[in-house]
Amino acid sequence: MLVKSIKEMQGIVKKWKKEGHSVGFVPTMGALHEGHQSLIERAARENDRVVVSIFVNPTQFGPTEDFDAYPRDLEKDCSLCQGVGVHVVFSPDAKELYFPDQSTMVHVSGLTDVLCGSKRPGHFDGVCLVVSKFFNIIQPDKAYFGQKDAQQVTVIKRMVRDLNLDVEIVVCPIVRESDGLARSSRNVYLSPEERQAALVLSRSLEVAKNALNNGERNASVLKAALLSCIVQEPLAEIDYVEIVDSESLQVLKGKIANSILIPVAVFIGKTRLIDNIAYKI
Ligand code: PAJ
Repeated sequence: MLVKSIKEMQGIVKKWKKEGHSVGFVPTMGALHEGHQSLIERAARENDRVVVSIFVNPTQFGPTEDFDAYPRDLEKDCSLCQGVGVHVVFSPDAKELYFPDQSTMVHVSGLTDVLCGSKRPGHFDGVCLVVSKFFNIIQPDKAYFGQKDAQQVTVIKRMVRDLNLDVEIVVCPIVRESDGLARSSRNVYLSPEERQAALVLSRSLEVAKNALNNGERNASVLKAALLSCIVQEPLAEIDYVEIVDSESLQVLKGKIANSILIPVAVFIGKTRLIDNIAYKI
């Protein structure tokens, strides 16, 4: 069932709660693929009722980013949702969700100063604002996020903790194509040649993982190995490659000891792709 009105969505949730149903929520920007589907299927397994939001959120795109070009296909998305047990697809209009004189910000400091936060100023403010609005409207017991956007997960968890929001954040593994490319709504931008070049992201992370498995513990050496792999691909332009502490997201330079995250952001032509691996020492 497609719901566009916020009031109607709130009414449905109220009824569900009265009936004692648990509510799982999967926030998305649509153009659904198997990555989204894995989150939705998990939500369907773990909750009585499932809401998927489909909303290309203008406040999380920078002025030179791809808001207008972002793929949209609500009809196709709705039929995918229907097939995997979604009860409501919530897709409000931006005009209804955002007030023209919207004055409230949700800013998570520190964690958003690095990685995508520093490369995409304001991005996480937009994400946190829209996610907290959806949490307030949908009142989910559990909300599902992908490890694909590792920094987003860390930021959302901190926001939920800091604001005492009563929702459990469930993190789901990265879903990949058979050749290793992480699934992304933005993969449709890639030409066949770029699609091949895009494999450099997962390949470079494999290089780092192998080095870690072979005992390499120096962050600078690992970073150099990643960089030298990526620069071999002529269509790739590095946005960032880092070795960070997986909790604080602080960049590590010397010997690594705890749980680390290796996030990479690479332009393939005009398309910016991200990927990462988490590794426990
Ligand atoms: P979107 O990019 O549509 O992603 C929605 C959710 O799907 C995110 O939690 C993302 O991490 C997850 N996801 C995307 N690709 C995945 C993959 N290959 N494997 C596993 N999970 C994957 O992230 C957003 O939208 C927005 O920022 C949003 C949270 C909806 C706020 O607007």
